[in-house]
Amino acid sequence: MNMGDRVGEFAFFDYEPGEADMASEVIEGLKGEPKQISPKYFYDQRGSELFEAITELEEYYLTRTELGLFEAHLDEVASLLGDNLCVVEYGSGSSLKIRKLLEAVTPNAYVPIDISQEHLKANAQRLYEDYPWLRVYPVCADFSQPLTLPAVTDGLRKVGFFPGSSIGNFEPSAACQFLTNVHSELGSGGALLIGVDRKKPVEILVDAYNDAKGVTAEFNLNVLSHLNARLRATFDIQQFDHDARYNEHDGCIQMFLRSRTDQVVEVDGQPVRFDLDEELHTENSYKFHPEEFLAIAAEAGFKQTRQWTDEQDWFALFLLEAL
Ligand code: AVI
Repeated sequence: MNMGDRVGEFAFFDYEPGEADMASEVIEGLKGEPKQISPKYFYDQRGSELFEAITELEEYYLTRTELGLFEAHLDEVASLLGDNLCVVEYGSGSSLKIRKLLEAVTPNAYVPIDISQEHLKANAQRLYEDYPWLRVYPVCADFSQPLTLPAVTDGLRKVGFFPGSSIGNFEPSAACQFLTNVHSELGSGGALLIGVDRKKPVEILVDAYNDAKGVTAEFNLNVLSHLNARLRATFDIQQFDHDARYNEHDGCIQMFLRSRTDQVVEVDGQPVRFDLDEELHTENSYKFHPEEFLAIAAEAGFKQTRQWTDEQDWFALFLLEAL
C-alpha cells in the first residue's frame, strides 16, 4: 500500500484520570509491615530518564532482546494481522519499539493511552508528524483501569501492544485483571502483542537489576527524591542502600531500599520511623515460564496465535487473540 494515499488525523481524548491521593497512599504504604511503595512513583522526569538509561545497560538484556525479536519477526506479525487495524498502545512510547511496529503493520489508526498528559501529547504529536498517513488518537487515562476506546476507532480490528515485560510489574491477580480489561477493550477478534521476560538463571536476573554502573540503584533511590519534591518529605538519599534480589518462591525480582541507620523521616508532615537495616519494598518484577504467562492470558480470554523467543530463551514475544 502506498501510504501517500492515506490521510492522517490527530485528535486528543482526555478521559480526565483522577489524581490518586498520593500522600495518603504513600503514607499508608510507609506505615505498613513491611514498608512498601508503588513502583508507579519511580517515574518522575528524572526517573523516566534513568529508566531510559537502564534500557541501554549491558546487564539489562530485556530491551535489546525484545528489539531483536521485533526485528526478526515483525513482518510475520504484520502478515498474521492483516489490514484495517488500530494499534492500541498501553503506555505511551516515543521509543523505537512503537515505531518499528507502526512501520511494519501500517495500521489505519494508533491509540496511545497514558496517564501523563504532557508526555502523551508530545509523543503522539511527534509520531503524527513522522507518519502523516496515520490517524493518531491519544487517550489520556489510567490504563490499569477499564476504559472504552474512542468511537472513531469503531470498525477497525484492535491490536493491543504492551512491550517491555511491563506485565511483570503487576501482581499476578492484577495482571489477570488488567488483561481481562484489555480483552474487553480490544473486543472479541482483537489481538494483543505482548513482551514477557522469561525465567532464567538467577545470576543473570540479579545482575540485570544490580548493574555495575549503579544506574538501577540511582533509579531506585530516586523514588525518595520524588517523595521529597512532591510530599515535602525529608529523606536523606545517602542513608539508604539499593538492593535487588530474586524471590525464588514467587518468581520475581524484588527491589528494596534498606535504611543504613535508625532514622525518622517526615512525609507530608508525618513522622515515619526506619530501624537500622529496615527495608522499603519498591518493586516486584515477575518472570514467567511461557506456559505460566499463557495460563494467565487464557484466564483473561486470550489464546496464543504465535510465540517467538530468542536463542537463549530469555525473553518471549506473544501474539494473542481475544476469544
Ligand atoms: C518497567 N519494568 C518492566 C522494568 C522491570 O524490569 O521490571 C522496571 C525496572 N526496574 C528496575 N529496572 C527496570
